[in-house]
Amino acid sequence: MTDDFLVLGGGGFVGRELVNHFRCPGTNTTGSGGFIRCDATVAGDVKSVIERLRPRFVINCVGLADVDRAEAEPQLAAGLNETAVKNIASVARDLHFKLVQISTDYVFDGSKGNYTENDATGPVNTYGMTKLAGEAAASQVRDSLIVRISTPYGEERGRRRRQFFSYVVDVLKESGEVKAVADQFVTSTYLPDLAGALDRLCHRGCSGIYHVTSRDRMSRYEFARLVAETSGLDVRLITMASTGGMRWKARRPRDSSLSVAKSLSEGVAYTPARDAVAWLLSKSRVQNAGGSGT
Ligand SMILES: NC(=O)c1ccc[n+]([C@@H]2O[C@H](COP(=O)([O-])OP(=O)(O)OC[C@H]3O[C@@H](n4cnc5c(N)ncnc54)[C@H](OP(=O)(O)O)[C@@H]3O)[C@@H](O)[C@H]2O)c1
Repeated sequence: MTDDFLVLGGGGFVGRELVNHFRCPGTNTTGSGGFIRCDATVAGDVKSVIERLRPRFVINCVGLADVDRAEAEPQLAAGLNETAVKNIASVARDLHFKLVQISTDYVFDGSKGNYTENDATGPVNTYGMTKLAGEAAASQVRDSLIVRISTPYGEERGRRRRQFFSYVVDVLKESGEVKAVADQFVTSTYLPDLAGALDRLCHRGCSGIYHVTSRDRMSRYEFARLVAETSGLDVRLITMASTGGMRWKARRPRDSSLSVAKSLSEGVAYTPARDAVAWLLSKSRVQNAGGSGT
């Protein structure tokens, strides 16, 4: 274990990858599974955990990432995506650690795509608005680092909700049809790339906003086809859906793909989506052969 890093929300999908990479402590809401209990919406909780551990870097992965739930429960979204960041920011001003805030491509309206860090934001849903408010809170802290990611994928590591990658594999294995949206575009973050990027950006002393996604802009439909082609499963089972036909509560940005030119200039490396998918498939095959399942 290193004393340098602490991952708040380390028990979540993104957080687990970072706890694993940095071999550092992480928090969740219950204190189960080797994590430290911390309710980030309670200022005293945040202060006592950080005061005890005194990390140099605090990566905040706490958040409500379910976009439709955020639309239905705006107060919960504001608590996790904004108030929690304000609490961490206020402790950072006293204890002088570097705050790394994980944010999202959904701060953009999606009208143009290939957004740079200098482009104007304009969220179209509650999730994006509350995450943008979280960015504003983090940016009040000297030298804070705000990293925008998108539709992350990687190893499950005990995740409760199934990620899209695993859903596609599981449905195709059962010869089921996968309907995937073809008119919404993102640059998905491969989680090992995020871990490597944070390591590099933190140790180079970078601050401000960075996009850490991918060089491959794709729709869900294209991603599902890539998974099918790479795994040798039946590509014909992937069919096109449109955003207009989805029963979503929240609006989605049409093209929230992000430019990674700035992070590339700091030496951050990106795995081509084809290679990332192939690696994850080989990993899940090894796990299946070992009887532990995907
Ligand atoms: N997933 C995406 O598609 C996506 C896309 C772009 C950006 N992001 C951002 O990435 C970050 C992590 O997302 P994720 O997908 O890893 O979410 P996740 O799997 O839902 O994990 C969220 C983590 O926050 C913890 N948490 C929840 N309520 C808390 C509270 N009141 N106090 C302290 N911790 C609390 C959870 O603890 P428990 O484990 O106890 O529930 C969990 O460890 C979020 O900021 C999200 O906005 C995610």
